[in-house]
Amino acid sequence: MDRRKFIKQSFMAGMAASQFRVNVLAGSKNKKYRTVLIGAGWWGNNILGEAMASGYCDIVGICDADEIFNMETAARVEKDMGKLPKTYTDYRELLTEQKPEIAIIATPEHWHAVQTIDALKTGCHVYMEKPIAHTINEGKAIVASQKKYGKVIQVGLHRRTSPHILVGQEMLRSGKVGEIKMIKACVYSPTANTIVQPLPAPPPHLHWDLYLGPAAYQPFESSVHPRGFRKYLNMTNGTIGDWGVHWMDQILWWSEEKYPKKVYSTGGMVDPDCGYDAPDFQTATLEFENFTVNWEHRRLGGERSEKSPVGTYFYGTEGILFMGFFDGAYFYPNDEDQPIVQVNHAMHEPDGQNIRELWKDFIDAIEGKKSPVAGIESSHRATTMSLLAMISYKTGRQINWDGEKEMILDDPEALSLMKRDYRAPWVYPELS
Ligand SMILES: NC(=O)c1ccc[n+]([C@@H]2O[C@H](COP(=O)([O-])OP(=O)(O)OC[C@H]3O[C@@H](n4cnc5c(N)ncnc54)[C@H](O)[C@@H]3O)[C@@H](O)[C@H]2O)c1
Repeated sequence: MDRRKFIKQSFMAGMAASQFRVNVLAGSKNKKYRTVLIGAGWWGNNILGEAMASGYCDIVGICDADEIFNMETAARVEKDMGKLPKTYTDYRELLTEQKPEIAIIATPEHWHAVQTIDALKTGCHVYMEKPIAHTINEGKAIVASQKKYGKVIQVGLHRRTSPHILVGQEMLRSGKVGEIKMIKACVYSPTANTIVQPLPAPPPHLHWDLYLGPAAYQPFESSVHPRGFRKYLNMTNGTIGDWGVHWMDQILWWSEEKYPKKVYSTGGMVDPDCGYDAPDFQTATLEFENFTVNWEHRRLGGERSEKSPVGTYFYGTEGILFMGFFDGAYFYPNDEDQPIVQVNHAMHEPDGQNIRELWKDFIDAIEGKKSPVAGIESSHRATTMSLLAMISYKTGRQINWDGEKEMILDDPEALSLMKRDYRAPWVYPELS
């Protein structure tokens, strides 16, 4: 690359990040919200750390189906905040006893709808993790409940506050990239395929029935917990549901289009007998009114062979805009006399995220200063894109989508996959 044609814009991202930090610190004298965490695993603890650091939260309860995760997380809160929160394995008891003002929900996605709606009913504002739902009708029910109970929902799509992504969005909206007809979003994650190891029983500290909740019964496997639920379609919608929602959200945010009209997806497993069923490789094509989105995910191949293993390419008439993860953002103008623009990321550790900024935005929304930047309606639409692709993957057919009515057209089997049966005593959320 010609160095003279290579402009670093990390200062823009850096300035935006430091401004956010100033705002966060300024909040330390403000009201403290009674806050609980439901799902005290990897990401829940990342959110909890930022909630505690914000100065707005009194952590009054921790709930996880795993008692060891509960104990460790409560001890962390005591160390950082000087007060040991009560722990629970059943979130319903936590909500009833603690009557929190804020609930953080960071459980596996088959729990998101039920727990979010129950938290709203209890009177909580909710910071919930993506994807918002496991089936499309659950997402519709969360949107309806948010309207009914009038509380703020912020969805953990922290890329909406990532400084390098904001610069990228600004370049797209300014017309610098030109007219965009095609977008490619990808996640290449060449992690080793592990073969599932069945165990005679879950470990004694894990309440497996509470972990499964509304999902169909499946025996405990060594790879499910922690974090391995992503491999099972009973609890997840694969990588397009997990990672894809971040990029689908960016595409909708830039375009202001609300939904695709046609969706087709295919993919498969490297080893069909490995014991899990979330696809190892998958492509999806989502056709919008004015552009087409291609999604690609695979575990095949080496990370070193891909220039950027995670991100989204916007192909415009004036050049290509890339929004990435640790790579930051790039603009490659078609005109070779124009410099390539690079914007470094300004994410926080651990794990490269901008939860701090999203949490500040959440508190601002609770205090009536603004609408949440990753609110439930846009996050529902982004999640729906991934879930439609999974319905196509499962049926092997193109899905025709009426986005206004939120209905799949002319395909009763695909339509039936907009919801699922819940395992008793859990009840599928009503649309009210
Ligand atoms: N926004 C992001 O960038 C981002 C990144 C990573 C994960 N996530 C999301 O965070 C969520 C959790 O993912 P993770 O990687 O932290 O998984 P994890 O397995 O580390 O944590 C999930 C926890 O939920 C607990 N749990 C299960 N059922 C429960 C119940 N009924 N009540 C209370 N706790 C229960 C599990 O025991 C586990 O400890 C997922 O929705 C995931 O998509 C978001």
